[in-house]
Amino acid sequence: MQGDAQVIASLNGMLAYELAAIDQYFVQAHMFDNWGLGKLHEHLAHEMEHEQQHAKQLIDRILFLGGAPDMVARAPLSIGNDVEQMLRNDLQMEMQVVDGLKQAIAVCEQAGDYQSRELLECLLKDTEEDHVLWLEQQLGLIGKLGLQNYLQSQT
Ligand SMILES: [Fe+2]
Ligand SMILES: [Fe+2]
Repeated sequence: MQGDAQVIASLNGMLAYELAAIDQYFVQAHMFDNWGLGKLHEHLAHEMEHEQQHAKQLIDRILFLGGAPDMVARAPLSIGNDVEQMLRNDLQMEMQVVDGLKQAIAVCEQAGDYQSRELLECLLKDTEEDHVLWLEQQLGLIGKLGLQNYLQSQT
């Protein structure tokens, strides 16, 4: 099946975010491990797998539509070098994904590609209700408990 060129371009645009998120969570998970923050390590390793699933779904859909998945393009990485900054950078990245998904959903709607829209709506739900929520909770806990107590809870 040959899909709409703008839909394929939008799916590839979102793939660039997922590939960047995989890289960002991959290195951050290892930084947390290196610092002895086992719980944060585990959670980010889990997030990385989640982003791999998102990338897989986008790749499958692009291939189904007769497009070529762009594995080279990456949204910019912002890793950070302390826990709070890393979580803030991750939240900023996830919020950019939310914006990107909403735009891509509008493109699918316009093109009448309701299957691609449904896929992107699932990614939006995961992003808003899982990734963004968790990051906001962690930053909220740092604010309430103080950074030292938060870090102690994540060993
Ligand atoms: Fe994702
Ligand atoms: Fe995410």
